[in-house]
Amino acid sequence: MADILVIRGSARRRGNSDSLLEAGLDELNNVEGDLTVDTITARNLNITPCRSCHGCWETGVCVVKDQMQQVYQQCLEAKHIVIGAPVYFTSVPGHLKVMIDRFQCFWVSTYRLGKPPRPRRNAMFLCVGAMENTKFFDSSSLVIKTWLSTLNVKCGVARFYPGLDAPEDIREHPDYLEDAARAAKKLILFQDFA
Ligand SMILES: Cc1cc2nc3c(=O)[nH]c(=O)nc-3n(C[C@H](O)[C@H](O)[C@H](O)COP(=O)(O)O)c2cc1C
Repeated sequence: MADILVIRGSARRRGNSDSLLEAGLDELNNVEGDLTVDTITARNLNITPCRSCHGCWETGVCVVKDQMQQVYQQCLEAKHIVIGAPVYFTSVPGHLKVMIDRFQCFWVSTYRLGKPPRPRRNAMFLCVGAMENTKFFDSSSLVIKTWLSTLNVKCGVARFYPGLDAPEDIREHPDYLEDAARAAKKLILFQDFA
């Protein structure tokens, strides 16, 4: 079981959201020592979109067998989940949204079939965008929070870092990297799962 599951949501490697994730992870390691870290890179997943076939309707189990089985396991086992993603057209990038939609079976399990919720856990969302407008963050974080709720995971820490477009833009913002480090510490210390 990993202490931290990191979900990389960007379409590109080593961009702004990856840098913020690294800053957060470094801080977590400083605070907690040897944390075990598992990673999902959404753009590399070999998965198909939800077919809305209702194959999960009576069981709460997805009938499509692909890499999502591993993703479900990783998301269920991690003590904390940390997501880093850019805003794409006011939402999360498509490959991350494809992954999220495949959690419909969890929604069915809890809300349609009334199965007991999974143990309460905590998550952090680090979001970047080129624009300054926080409405893009509002809509992206609503997607993330709604998805996490199907796992009974509270997004206790959510941060938006605007004005970042080129992958190296983050270098001009040591303040953002420091904030991501502080946010990561808050994730670990955060005890209020209500
Ligand atoms: C397809 C696409 C759509 C985007 N849509 C938005 C948007 O709606 N709002 C915004 O602020 N930035 C938008 N951006 C800019 C990215 O959020 C920005 O470049 C971000 O820094 C990328 O993060 P990364 O370096 O982690 O990949 C978009 C970028 C792409 C490629």
